[in-house]
Amino acid sequence: MHIVVTGGAGFIGANFVRRTVATRPDVRITVLDALTYAANEASLDEVRERIDFVKGSIADPAVVDEVVAGADAVVNFAADTHNDNSLSDPWPFVDTNIRGTAVLLDAVRRHDVRLHHISTDEVFGDLPLDAPERFTEDTPYRPSSPYSASKASSDHLVRAWVRSFDVRATISNCSNNYGPYQHVEKFIPRQITNILSGERPKLYGAGANVRDWIHVDDHNDAVWTILDRGEIGETYLIGADGERSNREVLRTLLEVMGRPADDFDVVPDRAGHDLRYAIDSSRLRRELGWQPTHADLDAGLRDTVEWYRRNRAWWEPGKAGVEAAYARRETAR
Ligand code: NAD
Ligand code: DAU
Repeated sequence: MHIVVTGGAGFIGANFVRRTVATRPDVRITVLDALTYAANEASLDEVRERIDFVKGSIADPAVVDEVVAGADAVVNFAADTHNDNSLSDPWPFVDTNIRGTAVLLDAVRRHDVRLHHISTDEVFGDLPLDAPERFTEDTPYRPSSPYSASKASSDHLVRAWVRSFDVRATISNCSNNYGPYQHVEKFIPRQITNILSGERPKLYGAGANVRDWIHVDDHNDAVWTILDRGEIGETYLIGADGERSNREVLRTLLEVMGRPADDFDVVPDRAGHDLRYAIDSSRLRRELGWQPTHADLDAGLRDTVEWYRRNRAWWEPGKAGVEAAYARRETAR
């Protein structure tokens, strides 16, 4: 089997490539990645000999056509992914997440190649803080940010190409991932690397917002489950029952890293900040037999702290620039 992994130098894509190389030696992998600020080629160092790497954008029809021709499947991780960035400049999100997905769809249609499109639970908007309901495959789309609206658009494009042109595609919408190789702009790595750099963690507002955390390996195992057994044209929600408020996650990180419980700064809240995400993944579990294996979030967070401690060379070069951008945005608000 020959798969094209777009966005394979980013957080989830690189973990997917590494795990696939380790567990499926018969799969040939071509990574297509534009190497934006969010990529880190070092994430692929150990598997570089085992993959083909093409630097290029999913929004570039010529490159996409060449890479997709002859593949058996495309797994589309490529996206602009940070909500905060989408609030200051939405245009790269429109170009990559919407136009790029359309370019990919056009290519898989012409070459009759299977597509699995990676999406997010944020397309559904948010849920009330203290309520039992969770997102399901039937929840209406109600995205809040330019990022989530662009991902929602991409899902609609995939469904339109399936219905109108019989493209062989599946979609998954996953909750918040954590684990190794995540960019330091994101909540968990930002707080861990702040502490490791002698800075205080930064909590948006009261920290009451809830995210539904899943280990990146569980997400990627679910993606393979859908590639192996998913029904064409269908959507599967991926989640591991990991609901926790930001304040609770931060409390765990501070405890694990031996810092006092109040050793953080409260900073201005994100505009339009979604309150709560929660995934009901029973369809994926019932129909395709997937189960998460990282049930203990505290243990997962401890391992993640340990990974950032041991891999300073991976994150340190980009850290100051990310914090400078956050500081500029805070001053501008
Ligand atoms: P990331 O920001 O860490 O990596 C994105 C990768 O895509 C980078 O390597 C970047 O260079 C590449 N890229 C960006 N624009 C590109 C373009 N035009 N052409 C080719 N490559 C391009 O993102 P991530 O957190 O690994 O997310 C991967 C996918 O998973 C995204 O589609 C995202 O919406 C989705 N997702 C993420 C999460 C999460 O918690 N991180 C949860 C659910 C879904
Ligand atoms: O739900 C899936 C989504 O999860 C993915 O689609 C996105 O690509 C991914 O970035 C993530 O979006 P979030 O906005 O939830 O993740 P982020 O890491 O930016 O923030 C997590 C929570 O932490 C959110 O409520 C905002 C808060 N936060 C974030 C940062 C960076 C803070 O309190 N302080 C911070 O410094």
